[in-house]
Amino acid sequence: MGRKIVILGTGGTIAGTGPVGGNSYTAAQLSAEQLVGSIPALMQAAGGELQVEEVARIDSKDMTHAVWQQLAQRCLAHLADDTVGGIVITHGTDTLEETAWLLHEVLPADKPVVLACAMRPATALCPDGPQNLLDAVDVAAHPQACGVLAVVAGSIHGAREVAKVHPQRLDAFASLDGGPLGWVQAGDVRWAHAAPPRPAAPRHGELLLAPAFMAPEWPRVEIVLSHAGSDGMLIDALVAGGVHGIVVAATGNGTLHERLQAALRRAIAAGVAVRIASRCGEGCISPITDQAWKDAGGLSPVKARIRLMLELMQP
Ligand code: SIN
Repeated sequence: MGRKIVILGTGGTIAGTGPVGGNSYTAAQLSAEQLVGSIPALMQAAGGELQVEEVARIDSKDMTHAVWQQLAQRCLAHLADDTVGGIVITHGTDTLEETAWLLHEVLPADKPVVLACAMRPATALCPDGPQNLLDAVDVAAHPQACGVLAVVAGSIHGAREVAKVHPQRLDAFASLDGGPLGWVQAGDVRWAHAAPPRPAAPRHGELLLAPAFMAPEWPRVEIVLSHAGSDGMLIDALVAGGVHGIVVAATGNGTLHERLQAALRRAIAAGVAVRIASRCGEGCISPITDQAWKDAGGLSPVKARIRLMLELMQP
């Protein structure tokens, strides 16, 4: 008998309901059990054994660090369980890329941890959630799959590249800078490269067991945009408010409005960590080696924020 697939529910539009066939809906209404129970084909895709747990039932725009703590701990426990072959997480689309990146950074994911979502609620005339969830289970049960992945509209995305790029269309996600890792269609998983990539050891894996990760408050890291007309007011206010880190979503190749720069120097002098990401959706900025601030290693601003929080948790 194969190993079981665990489905962890967190809510999202995939568990959303509204008037049948209508456009309006409320996210995160169905329990994980109800959602999974409405798709009988999941059991066969899972190879006969499925376990369902609800970690949260939220609209993912309201994701909290507390839910992330709990989700990461449940994933860690299931990854360590020899009877589990893979994990699927049902999630809202709005912060899916952030959760994927956090889990990638902390989990020893030598098995697949696959995020699934939907752009239409379960009560839509033609919901996309059931197929996306079935596809995610197919990927989680695939012998070559591992690491944190997202499966949406038939494409398999890696945690680093995946981003929501459209507010409405069904195929709302893309793997920026690299293309999808593979595709899944009618139960058939195809990898884009001869061997699917194996995830590197998690950058912050040891943190999962550290008190700092489970603390009620995580280091406060905020994102500030550099834009026409920027000045240092927000930076100074954040420093006065006790922020620990600032990620700047900079223009182009990591360039900053000249009026932001003095405020960022003041922030650094006050002990605040500053990282520079680009507000461009694609591409990786050149390393910054000659400034008081550092580049964010080519991460998007939201993923750079997560990495900086994890860095600041290190003892
Ligand atoms: C959410 O992110 O929970 C709501 C929106 C969605 O899932 O598409």
